[in-house]
Amino acid sequence: MGRGRFITFEGIDGAGKSSHIEPLAVWLRERGHQVLVTREPGGTPLAETLRELVLHQTMDALTESLLVFAARRDHLVVSIQPALDAGVTVLCDRFTDATFAYQGGGRGFDTQVLSQLESMVHPGLQPDLTLWFDLPAALAAQRRAAARAADRFEAESTAFFERVQAGYAARAAAVPSRFKRIDAAPSPAEVWRQVAGAMQDLLR
Ligand code: TYD
Repeated sequence: MGRGRFITFEGIDGAGKSSHIEPLAVWLRERGHQVLVTREPGGTPLAETLRELVLHQTMDALTESLLVFAARRDHLVVSIQPALDAGVTVLCDRFTDATFAYQGGGRGFDTQVLSQLESMVHPGLQPDLTLWFDLPAALAAQRRAAARAADRFEAESTAFFERVQAGYAARAAAVPSRFKRIDAAPSPAEVWRQVAGAMQDLLR
């Protein structure tokens, strides 16, 4: 059995990535794949506990970075790596690119320190494909305004999300082969067509 594929979903809050993950899991299962759907921060009992702290407690950017990487380490050891080893396709709502975008871009935290943490927490492992849902920060803010109560990140300014956006763009420019940019502005049906197209390319 081959190693499973590791596919991550990224984008600023309000870009609409989360609504395409379950449909993609269904699409893959219909084609005979075993699929694990998971998310970060979170995905294990310990990591979900850390998620609650990161989303709701005030803390500095280093503490925030250490907590998301601690959650990631547990998630990887307990859930993601065993699934990949068993040939399961893993669909993960956010991964390390989010740390570079939010803590690095949004908070302005040192990306060299983030790179060191990245190589400590998941040496040699990167997603096979990252679907980056790209939406202008102002449009995402409009979509968020219609949604539920905001957490610490969702309550941030449009300027913060412009920096997060720039953080994603920098990561995508550094490894273009791993990133597939999804234009998140059109209708959900059109966005889905792009998602399914990217998967067909990966599976070809
Ligand atoms: P999100 O994935 O958007 O979940 P929901 O749809 O339930 O709001 O929320 C996670 C938040 O955590 C999001 O605002 C981005 C933030 N985050 C970081 O700041 N750094 C990280 O490394 C990760 C994984 C998430």
